[in-house]
Amino acid sequence: MKVGVLGLGYIGLANAAVLATVSKCDVIAYDVDEKRIERLNKGDFYLAERRLNEVLSKTKKKLAYTSNPDDLEGLDAYFICVGTPAKEDGSCDLTQVNEAVDLVARKTTKETYLVIRSTVEIGTGTSLREDLEKENTKFHVISLPEFLAEGTAYEDEEKPSRFVVGVDDHESFDFIRSLRKDAINEGIPFYEMNHESAELTKYASNTFLAAKLSFMNEMSHLAEETGADITDVAKAVGADPRIGHSMFKVSLGYGGACLPKDVSALGETYAKKLGIPSFMISATRAANILQYTMTMKKIMDELEGYPNVRIAIIGLSFKAGISDIRNSPIYDLLEALTKEKGLELALYDVSKEARESSKELYPDYHVADTMDEALMDADAVLFAMDDPSYKEIEEAYLLKLMRGRTIFDCRNLFSLYRFKNFKYISMGRPIRNPIN
Ligand SMILES: NC(=O)c1ccc[n+]([C@@H]2O[C@H](COP(=O)([O-])OP(=O)(O)OC[C@H]3O[C@@H](n4cnc5c(N)ncnc54)[C@H](O)[C@@H]3O)[C@@H](O)[C@H]2O)c1
Repeated sequence: MKVGVLGLGYIGLANAAVLATVSKCDVIAYDVDEKRIERLNKGDFYLAERRLNEVLSKTKKKLAYTSNPDDLEGLDAYFICVGTPAKEDGSCDLTQVNEAVDLVARKTTKETYLVIRSTVEIGTGTSLREDLEKENTKFHVISLPEFLAEGTAYEDEEKPSRFVVGVDDHESFDFIRSLRKDAINEGIPFYEMNHESAELTKYASNTFLAAKLSFMNEMSHLAEETGADITDVAKAVGADPRIGHSMFKVSLGYGGACLPKDVSALGETYAKKLGIPSFMISATRAANILQYTMTMKKIMDELEGYPNVRIAIIGLSFKAGISDIRNSPIYDLLEALTKEKGLELALYDVSKEARESSKELYPDYHVADTMDEALMDADAVLFAMDDPSYKEIEEAYLLKLMRGRTIFDCRNLFSLYRFKNFKYISMGRPIRNPIN
């Protein structure tokens, strides 16, 4: 079977890899970005996804990269994996999806499957099916939302938590079943539904995860005021299997390429358009904004009165172990910090790609090439992300490089007593003054 994958970001490359290896399809992987295609053809895989890159580097025969639309002609199926960013009003921008589908409609010569993997506004699958009914060839439109997480893109694509399949006809269910028969035989659930249910499942999943993160952050404020320690509370609350520990850790707020845009697309625009009250979604979003403003206040309260303070900011990606900095919550905090007079910031992330994209996207910030450079003569250090390598940092190392003795830990990386010579200010836990 010959299939096309349109859009080669996290979703597209993971889909292309699994379709070529697990499903044994011949894959034409297409992107409008010629530079990306050039890099892929040289074996220069631009995402910091270890397993995905390993698989792509070994999958040469069944996977061709192209930016030539003609290569998409007459395929058996097309997987739409392009971006769906937020419009200015927060709603889902379908421009890339519509362009990709228009291209497919022009290149199709026979009955074919159109599989929508991008996160799209509810109703998109049905309206695409209605539009495509006017074409001469028959299209089976399938809404197959994607649930992979960055950092484990290939692993999640190969063995997803579930298949959520929205269709209009039974042939479409059979098509996805035949492509993913190995995973289904292993017991991965396969949920059959209509387009709208599949589309809402995706939005509801992301919004729930965002709400869970926001809830934990709100609890951390209560912990701070009452003398509780939120890390102990989170462990004990999450031990209830109905609640669980996953995505239940205090942070600077949720971020990334998906949660912020999906929460606002569902609540702030879609539910509003329908006139449906969406208090939980609005509160999730408001709590996320509150989180960095409260953290900002905590930092300024501590630094008040110190002129010309230099702060090292460690951790720029929106999640540990990845290089993606899109909508990373640290940048909201940085924007607020740079408005304060006399603050000098030095940024660092363990991922070279994260540092490079930060330099590109935020040229006004000083991004250090090494952790030593960021920490040198700093009055305070702020840990924004919980990469395992940051947890290894020793007190002697900080004492050697830093001028000041303040640590802000926004991910509760360390025990309260690890740094005896520093004032240690974490989240939802008591402030610890130097012991010596
Ligand atoms: N990143 C994630 O973790 C994740 C997880 C689940 C779902 N999603 C959803 O999947 C979709 C893609 O996300 P992503 O992070 O992979 O996106 P991305 O921004 O990393 O990549 C999108 C790619 O599409 C290409 N493109 C744009 N217009 C095109 C067109 N007309 N034809 C062909 N290619 C085109 C771009 O050049 C880019 O390479 C989004 O809807 C997103 O919400 C993302």
